Amino acid sequence: MLAAYAARIDRTDPLAALEVGDRPDPEVPDGWTRVQLRAAALNRHDLWSLRGVGLPEDRVPMILGCDAAGVTDDGQEVILHTVIPSPGWSGDETLDPRRTLLSELHDGTFADQVVVPTVNLVPKPEGMSWEVAGCLSTAWLTAYRMLFSNADVSPGDTVLVQGAGGGVSTALIQLGAAAGLRMWVTSRDESRGARAVELGAERAFASGARLPERVAAVMESVGAATWSHSVNSLNPGGTIVICGATSGDAPEKAELTKIFFKQLRVIGSTMGSIAEMRRLVNFVDREGISPVIDQAIPLAQARDAFTRLAEGESFGKIVLTMG
Ligand SMILES: NC(=O)c1ccc[n+]([C@@H]2O[C@H](COP(=O)([O-])OP(=O)(O)OC[C@H]3O[C@@H](n4cnc5c(N)ncnc54)[C@H](OP(=O)(O)O)[C@@H]3O)[C@@H](O)[C@H]2O)c1
Repeated sequence: MLAAYAARIDRTDPLAALEVGDRPDPEVPDGWTRVQLRAAALNRHDLWSLRGVGLPEDRVPMILGCDAAGVTDDGQEVILHTVIPSPGWSGDETLDPRRTLLSELHDGTFADQVVVPTVNLVPKPEGMSWEVAGCLSTAWLTAYRMLFSNADVSPGDTVLVQGAGGGVSTALIQLGAAAGLRMWVTSRDESRGARAVELGAERAFASGARLPERVAAVMESVGAATWSHSVNSLNPGGTIVICGATSGDAPEKAELTKIFFKQLRVIGSTMGSIAEMRRLVNFVDREGISPVIDQAIPLAQARDAFTRLAEGESFGKIVLTMG
């Protein structure tokens, strides 16, 4: 079958480690189900994998891709929950120290087919497009947990999202606006900020700009470049929810004094449980949210998709289509 995979690890030039070509069809273990894929979106995770972050050399070749939607052999239309717990784990699978995402231990979703534990299948709502269904499993699930499980905010509160155009940021803006939160964003680029406002953000600011008032919560995925601004932007008792560090994880200042003096909460957030995945799918469907899709292109053109993500050109999700 056709697949986009890490053929090797390249810590400095991740695109050099990417191959798009033939891979063997997967075997189906007991308790797992084969899915003929229809759409699968890219995440920064796929670039980290090519650099060897979370993907050791001895596991390549590895088919990349965490997000996906498709059709099982018995004709069910499904969305995949990509967090795979270790055998015997029960409870929130994101707390399993041996959990993996598809493409870390088991082949991922940038292929004609994938196999997943049957319990990881979530029904695709009728009428939801394949492109939308194929971009919910990672960035959107992460945004859902950040905002609705970890931020401790209520409709009407103001929430700042650091960065406008990333998959997590666009998901936060669209989910928060649909839930009655007042979403503010920062961006390095004025036109990307303006696009965030079109998506439902109330206001956009230049990265690092002083805000007109402090906010109840900050959604942080940029890391070092925005950390001090996140701390400085919060009301006393406010919450930073952090899920990533695209610009690096060693900020110039840790801001420890401000964190204790203002009694801030710093909450780490990773992916979500299958229960949150189901709630996300229902919420997106019921509210008629259309996740912003930067491009939908055939799997065979995966290299173009990776290049666009790596260059930081995309706004919203880049989706690969199959079949
Ligand atoms: N913990 C988890 O479960 C989880 C799940 C999903 C993602 N993540 C992580 O979260 C991060 C975001 O992921 P993503 O998929 O949204 O992709 P992404 O492509 O890394 O997102 C780029 C975003 O970061 C902003 N940005 C990048 N560099 C910046 C800088 N130097 N200064 C200010 N803003 C900067 C961009 O904003 P503008 O271009 O608008 O300025 C854009 O919104 C990644 O590090 C990813 O690994 C973690």
